[in-house]
Amino acid sequence: MIKEITTQELNTENFIDEKVKEIQQVVGEGMGINALSGGVDSSTVTMLGHRALGDRLKTVFIENGLMREGESEKVAGLFKKLGVTVDVVDAQKEFFAALEGITDPEEKREAITQAFYRDVFGRLIKESGAKHLLQGTILTDIDETIAGIKRQHNVFEQLGIDPKEAFGYHIIEPLIQLRKDGVRKVGEALGLPAEAFDRIPFPGPALAARVIGEATPERIETVRKATVVVERLLKETGAFQYMGILHEDRVTGMRDGLRDFGQQIEVRCWESVDARVATPTPLSFKILEELASEIIRDVPGIVSVTYNITPKPPSTIEAV
Ligand code: XMP
Repeated sequence: MIKEITTQELNTENFIDEKVKEIQQVVGEGMGINALSGGVDSSTVTMLGHRALGDRLKTVFIENGLMREGESEKVAGLFKKLGVTVDVVDAQKEFFAALEGITDPEEKREAITQAFYRDVFGRLIKESGAKHLLQGTILTDIDETIAGIKRQHNVFEQLGIDPKEAFGYHIIEPLIQLRKDGVRKVGEALGLPAEAFDRIPFPGPALAARVIGEATPERIETVRKATVVVERLLKETGAFQYMGILHEDRVTGMRDGLRDFGQQIEVRCWESVDARVATPTPLSFKILEELASEIIRDVPGIVSVTYNITPKPPSTIEAV
């Protein structure tokens, strides 16, 4: 049973001191490695790991082909300013090969987990000589996985999987007692700029969690373009999280006077504190109209834009 540290009782300085010591103890004189996706949790773990291990922590950005537009440059640039070197690893082929032909949500999550931990990290660990992977699992990831709602990409031990046996390396999870709001406080205390600690959450399975049905390079590109519009137009709302989702069903539309059996994007925008429960943001009709017209303008093949008005539960934040 993991003991939660609530955001109210969290003392960030004590927490950081304690976790730095723990990481140093576990890793000893060896090397650590961690994957930075640019999300709040992995950014915070990167800062914590570097405080503990300095140059003995290798930080990589896995370009899995499922990330948001311009993300690798943005994240590597931001961390360079913070004194952290980020190696960008091209693993697009491995991820798309793993996802090929898969439409079931949990099978998709499992394919991503295996591509990430077994194939790509298995290789990187061998190359780097590191024996420890630092990752930003948080309590909400564990809860949902145990409850059988979603297999979060980064949860093993609680499912009876020993990463050492399954993948050949040890996983360190310094944020596991926290929820998202607590992680933000720790990230801020570690010197992350607001653009990193205050960023909207982004899931480990990345845009594959926002494509219903098969995550092909083309379909990911469609949702990536929609994401650009959604993030630009909804930034000012200050909402917890917002996203575009590509549906599998097509609907009859028309373009240039001709029938177009086209694709649909669903927009979601959530109010939440820690992602356990969430409600849709009451967006103005003006913003909804802007979303529709800009998505139709910028994303080829879309003939329908909808807004989700269902709370979590029974909905969940991501669609997959
Ligand atoms: P759901 O969709 O379960 O999402 O309501 C709750 C929060 O978790 C994020 N999320 C994930 N984060 N690995 C992660 O690191 C995952 O597999 C994953 N799935 C969902 C989601 O973006 C939301 O903030």
